[in-house]
Amino acid sequence: MGARIIEGRPVAEEIRKDIIRRMAELQLEGITPGLAVIMVGDDPASSSYVKMKGKACQELGIYSQTLRMPSNYPEEALLHTIDELNRNPRINGILVQMPVPGHIDVSKVVQAIDPDKDVDAFHPVNVGKMLIGEGDGFLPATPHGIQELLMRNGYEVAGKHVVIVGRSNIVGKPLAAMLMQKGEGADATVTVCHSRTRDLGSITVQADILVCAVGRAGLIKADMVKEGAVVIDVGSNRVQDPSSARGYRFVGDVDFEAVKERAAAITPVPGGVGPMTIIMLMQNTVLAAEKALKQHAGPKV
Ligand code: GUN
Repeated sequence: MGARIIEGRPVAEEIRKDIIRRMAELQLEGITPGLAVIMVGDDPASSSYVKMKGKACQELGIYSQTLRMPSNYPEEALLHTIDELNRNPRINGILVQMPVPGHIDVSKVVQAIDPDKDVDAFHPVNVGKMLIGEGDGFLPATPHGIQELLMRNGYEVAGKHVVIVGRSNIVGKPLAAMLMQKGEGADATVTVCHSRTRDLGSITVQADILVCAVGRAGLIKADMVKEGAVVIDVGSNRVQDPSSARGYRFVGDVDFEAVKERAAAITPVPGGVGPMTIIMLMQNTVLAAEKALKQHAGPKV
């Protein structure tokens, strides 16, 4: 029997409705949330993500600015651009699309963003709040999207063994921290695997919930998955496909066709985690505008 396919769009649509309601409340206060997306260089995958973010803003009525800088854009100029956006009241959220070219120090860039505008939740202040489990910070879009996808599809993670393959700062590490936290949508037992893990399959096969986020097409084969597991595929890998009009297509890190015969449920690529990432970013932008409103309102007397 084939696995249930966990589509991202219906859940993203539920969250979109909530965002629209919150946007209407902000509108009553005369506020339109604003997002600035900075991209340095011309990486085709990044360019398509940046376009999708701009389109999502447009569809929701979020004000957006997309700043495309050449690949030789100096680090100092980038820090200056961020500083201007930090002080721009129309902008509530600032995002620098990763990866950035090698001459730019990622940690300087991340730390230059005002933590209250850090809708990616990459700033050490927000990473720290997330790790402690302090509720008022931003949560990173992809891990938060995965958590919502599981919860809203009725997959309880409490007490389950979640195996995460990949230890990136964007997905693996924060997802591990969020799912091991006390509370709703969490309380899991988490194992993190990575490139130095020995005998990967012997660990992934123990997972009740398996998340793969490494960016290697077909890494997870059917014999690495437990019968009845829930499989979340975060990979988005471009592979040659002469049968498609573009000559390529996107696949995940999981051998979808084989694994869907063993798993209880699996996310497709595209259409699984991807739509969740974008909507969670939009939600963080609205949250940033709400935070700014609260700060300006000051204490009630
Ligand atoms: N590159 C891949 N994922 C992300 C993300 O969530 N945010 C940013 N800024 N860059 C990325």
